[in-house]
Amino acid sequence: MRIRVLGTAAGGGFPQWNCACSNCRGVREGNDALKPLLQSSLAVSDNETDWYLINAGPDVHRQIESFAKLHPGPGIRETPLAGVILTDAELDHTIGLLSLREGSCLTIYGTDTVRRCLQSAFPVFQMLKNYCSWEWQSLHPDFEQKLGPLGDGTITVQTIPVSKKPPLYAQSDKEGKSPEDLWEVGLVLHNERSGKCLAYFPTLLRITPAIEACLRKADILMVEGTFWSEDELVKIGATERDAGSMGHLPISGPAGIAEKLASYPAERKILIHINNSNPILRQGSSERYKLEQLGFEIACDGMEMEV
Ligand code: MLT
Ligand code: MN
Ligand code: ZN
Repeated sequence: MRIRVLGTAAGGGFPQWNCACSNCRGVREGNDALKPLLQSSLAVSDNETDWYLINAGPDVHRQIESFAKLHPGPGIRETPLAGVILTDAELDHTIGLLSLREGSCLTIYGTDTVRRCLQSAFPVFQMLKNYCSWEWQSLHPDFEQKLGPLGDGTITVQTIPVSKKPPLYAQSDKEGKSPEDLWEVGLVLHNERSGKCLAYFPTLLRITPAIEACLRKADILMVEGTFWSEDELVKIGATERDAGSMGHLPISGPAGIAEKLASYPAERKILIHINNSNPILRQGSSERYKLEQLGFEIACDGMEMEV
């Protein structure tokens, strides 16, 4: 199974044209140590011919352009894109669905909660119905989903609940709210051929026993590294909301991602979905050094791996 990181950044985008934090200023001032990053997304394939995107954000066109294996053709409206797997309905993971309307029929995977949201608060499906067709496949924690048009691929997707936090734009939507809502999930992608798996958790509000069990078993971990600290955005005066209230578990601190995952046996531990304010983006920062000492890698756009 081939995995390509199409984008590394968290929802805020990088660089924000109006952001005054030192990371964004560094990019605008041409500091070589910092590179603009596209928003978090992966491409996955078991045959290098049919590709699935995991999440489709605002940068999806640039991401397709950046990776020759996703270029359209050979026929008119043909594309190697077979589908999109959504881990949530956040804008940084779904806006790209609107840009993919030129493609032929895609299979879109997500939880039933995400499907309902894409029919109501962010009515992507109503908007697209006269442009293209798609097939919906529900992700559910109780069963594994096999990728492929006939369910005949060698990649299976296991769905792990992460949080019941709806995106900000859907928070006032009283309609259809239920305790069973599953707004955010993590995925474990198993390659039946190699027997290996990748755990992908672009958001992590807390590490539940079920999440911990997956992360301890996975060969490669790719988990959120949105914020270094709980009050990162508060400290730079960007907002009054802390990481937890935005649905993110910070990297540092006694309950943080680094401390927790450092002892897990995975071959590789990679941080992704990194906010522009995060000091780990700066080469040579002490925060980045600490993480590297603990055995973590920081994802970058274009990173590829075989799982
Ligand atoms: C987040 O990760 O907190 C959200 O995706 C932010 C956003 O997209 O605006
Ligand atoms: Mn996000
Ligand atoms: Zn910034």
